[in-house]
Parts: sequence; C-alpha cells; structure tokens
Amino acid sequence: MLLLALESSCDETAVAILRGEPGQPAEILSSEIASQIELHRQYGGVVPEVASRNHSLHLRPLVEQALAHAGVAINEVDVFAATSGPGLASSLLIGATAAKAMAAAAGKPFLAVNHLEGHLLSPFVGTGVVPPHLGLIVSGGHTLLLDVAAPGKYRKLGGTRDDAAGEAFDKVGKMLGLPYPGGPEIEKMARGGRCDAFNFPRSMMKEPGFDFSFSGLKTAVLYTLSQRNPETGTPLPDELADLCASFQEAVIEVLVKKTLKAARHTGRKIIALSGGVSLNKALREAFAKACGREGIELALASPGLCTDNAAMIGFAALQHAFHGKSSPLDGDINPNLSLVAAD
Ligand code: KG4
Ligand code: ZN
Repeated sequence: MLLLALESSCDETAVAILRGEPGQPAEILSSEIASQIELHRQYGGVVPEVASRNHSLHLRPLVEQALAHAGVAINEVDVFAATSGPGLASSLLIGATAAKAMAAAAGKPFLAVNHLEGHLLSPFVGTGVVPPHLGLIVSGGHTLLLDVAAPGKYRKLGGTRDDAAGEAFDKVGKMLGLPYPGGPEIEKMARGGRCDAFNFPRSMMKEPGFDFSFSGLKTAVLYTLSQRNPETGTPLPDELADLCASFQEAVIEVLVKKTLKAARHTGRKIIALSGGVSLNKALREAFAKACGREGIELALASPGLCTDNAAMIGFAALQHAFHGKSSPLDGDINPNLSLVAAD
C-alpha cells in the first residue's frame, strides 16, 4: 500500500510517502519537512496566522519534492492522509484540505489522522508491529499516558492538569532568556549544570492516579529568578546551567516515576516514549535506567520521528488503512480532537 501523508497541525509543514504491509516495517520512501521555527523565533512562540500562510506557501512544492524523492507518481498513491486535529485550526485546514483535494482528484480514499496517534505509534515505525504497551506522549502541546492494547484501542491513564511537559520547557526557556523552543536549549545548558543545585517541586507525586502538573514547577523557577535577581528577574549567568539542570531533573523525575508506577499498575512490559520532549537525552537515559531495573522494554522513536513530521502520521494512517478504513471528504478538522473519550 502506497500512502501519502500531510502534517500541518502547528509550525511544521510536512509530507511523507510510505509503503506498508500489515506486520511489516513501514518503508519511509520520503519524509520532507519545511520547518518554520526560525520564522516564529522572533516572536518567542508560534503565531497562528504566520503558520497557516507558510503552510499554504510550502505545501505544494513539498508534495512535489516528496514524490520526486520517493520516485513515485501521484497516480500510484493508494491513500491520502492528513492530520485533522488536535492543533491550530487555520494550520490544520491547509493540510487536511489539500489531502482531501488530492484524494478526490485521484478517486482514492482519504484518511483523517489524530496527531497524537501519530506521536503515540511513532516508536513502532521501524518494526511495523504495535505490541500492547504503555505509551507516554510528551510534546509541546500534550502530556498523555495511555494504555495501548492495539492500534485504535487506547485507554487514558493520565494527562497534564495544566502545562504540557514541552510547554513547561518552552516557558521556562523564555524566562531564562533562551531562544524558542526552550526544550533543546535547556538540555544544552543543563549539561554543564548540577541537577541538585535547586530543589524544585515534583508535583502530584503523592496523589493517586497518573496525572501530571507542571505549572507549579514553572512558578517555582519564576520565583527563584525574582529572588536571585530582583532587578531584572533574569538568571545570573553563572547560575543558568544549574537552573536548567535542576528544572530538567524535576520534569524527568516526575515523568519517569509516574510512568513506571503505571507500568506496575497495568502489568505492561513495554514503555514507548514519543513527542518532541522524548528527544531529550537525559530523559531517555533516566527511562532506560528505570526500565532496565524493572525488566521493562523501552521503545523510542528515531530522532527524526520525535518532533512533528508526516511519516508518523503516515504510519498511524497505515494501521487504519490496512483495515479498510477511510474518512468522509466532508468531515471537518477539529482543533480539540481527542484520542480517547475522556482526554
Ligand atoms: O512533538 P513536538 O514537535 O510538537 C508538538 O506536537 O507539540 O514537540 C515540540 C516540543 C517543544 O516544546 C520543544 O521544546 C520540545 O518538544 N523539545 C524538547 C527537546 N527537543 C524538543 N524538550 C526537551 N528536550 C529536548 N531536547
Ligand atoms: Zn506534535
């Protein structure tokens, strides 16, 4: 099955072409991304209007590039897929409308894909088989812990009550005067710092259940900054690395402990990490150590599949296309689309 997938839910325009067969590793024939990070950096975050204009500017050349790199003609494509939510409405519309138009013109099926399902299943692109597991999505917009019985069979165990993990990295990065997005910048700075220099809070560790909260941690960093440097509220240069390391450690400890607690609770023997924050090496190492101790297998997406991309959307679409599913052309995008009934 040859599938063309589009992703335009936030600030990355992406197109991928995949060849897949049930139970086989998906072959990514091409995966193109036009990143808008540089464009939004000057505003310190994503500006929706700028994002959607750039999606419409880049999408068509990117589709042509993806077809050329894959060595595929558009009339060979069997299914057209696109992210239909969650995300920015004006951004989602561009990719979803383009995929529907291509499907209608080619007389082929269209598949609407949940962006979170793309992240969730991304650690299994390489094997092509999604085993029962515990999935932790840690991205800029979401922190979601799910019990996965099979593709499409998801049960929410926990989520964030306020900020997503990536959002906390980005907001704290901004407070510390680091460029957008804060996640990779904090990771870089943290390498030279002591993670026990500041005792930041680990929220919701004692509560039952598996929910997260990161806004208290963000406020604790802000409070520390205003105490250390009342004049400007910016960090003292020689404390920046320690602040980054201590903040990062607080996020990691909560994510690891809660997820391992959920693994013990559900009896799942595989934990899969996905989303932009799962690129963080300290997070990967902490999970690897904890999983190793408890005899749990850790599944990680390859780095190119962690941040937003269309290959993960294509892989999720393939899992549904294999079962003959398709979506109506008059279906709408949904900026608040849920992956499970109660998230
Ligand atoms: O999955 P993603 O590309 O977009 C969403 O769907 O939200 O994730 C982007 C997020 C940003 O918040 C970014 O700061 C974070 O992932 N991120 C990181 C790292 N690389 C990206 N956070 C921590 N450490 C990193 N190395
Ligand atoms: Zn994402």
